[in-house]
Amino acid sequence: MEKERLCRGGIYFTRIKYVKEKYGTSGMSRLYERMKRYGYNGPASEEEIKIADWYPQKYDLIFLKAVKDEFGERVLKNMGRAVPKINAGMQSTFLKWDPTPEELIKNSGRYWSIFYNFGKLEGKIMQQGEGIIRGYGISEDPIFCELLTNYFQGLVEWTGAKDVNVEHIKCVHRGDGVEEWVIRWKTEKIENKREIKWDDSLASGVDEIDRQHKYFIKILNEINENINEGDKNSLISVLHFMDYYAHWHFSSEEKYMKMYNYPDFEKHHEQHEKFYRYTQDTIKKASERVDNDLIFSVNKYLVDWLINHIMGEDKKFAHFMRTRNLVMSEEKMPEEIERKLNSL
Ligand SMILES: [Fe+2]
Ligand SMILES: [Fe+2]
Repeated sequence: MEKERLCRGGIYFTRIKYVKEKYGTSGMSRLYERMKRYGYNGPASEEEIKIADWYPQKYDLIFLKAVKDEFGERVLKNMGRAVPKINAGMQSTFLKWDPTPEELIKNSGRYWSIFYNFGKLEGKIMQQGEGIIRGYGISEDPIFCELLTNYFQGLVEWTGAKDVNVEHIKCVHRGDGVEEWVIRWKTEKIENKREIKWDDSLASGVDEIDRQHKYFIKILNEINENINEGDKNSLISVLHFMDYYAHWHFSSEEKYMKMYNYPDFEKHHEQHEKFYRYTQDTIKKASERVDNDLIFSVNKYLVDWLINHIMGEDKKFAHFMRTRNLVMSEEKMPEEIERKLNSL
């Protein structure tokens, strides 16, 4: 006789947590009612379930079917996606666990055997941003495949990966001898790129400052979007342009600071100086080698700097002007800047 398929109590916990958060205890009791009709005769409440104990996996299958019939297909799907976030999210807070999609996929077999006493799972990486998970004897019911498909999706998304796509390409319930999932995602580095978009939270309330900042952001996005590994020349040229633009923008801010005897001038000016130094430094580095690491550290530094500076010192100065009814009139932009900006 085949041994009974068991899974750890922990499996139920995250599922139940999800249902409870969404539908409350009343939703949970409705679900138990339905589960009983479907033949469930396990623990009558989740308090009785122990995380590390073994329970028949058929309870889980009944649970999944009941979720689907009680709350609908979409909820089952969302639950599958949310479970890793609940589960892995908890673990990472305690263990400072910060895995990559690659690590999760490569170790999926090990994780599987912690939670299930049957079948086998194998994960391997095919190329950057693509992995395969294969399962042998793991799925008695298509609903479990469905759950796993969404689970893998949520798992890889939880790492912060973008554009995650999971396809269940082979399925024993469709006549294949094995379960197979192809998982694709945007590679770690690209997904880590930060973006900055103009929105009202960046507005200082002084129109001319905001106008100049919008262009600044435009240039930064140009760096983000069009710079590729190995492409020294375009990175250097756009950095030069940014440096040029920054000089113009900073000096128009500083001109008014001096004119209005702004008391925090020194502190503000120092941040501008720091920015020039960084840009000069980076141009030097880029002339030697442009690799992904450089691109991403430039991206991170500039986005952080700009947001911090706009939200911090620039807003302070704008506030200073506004509360004193001081004005900053529209600065004429040098022609080269205007031409270049139009071409971006
Ligand atoms: Fe500024
Ligand atoms: Fe500034």
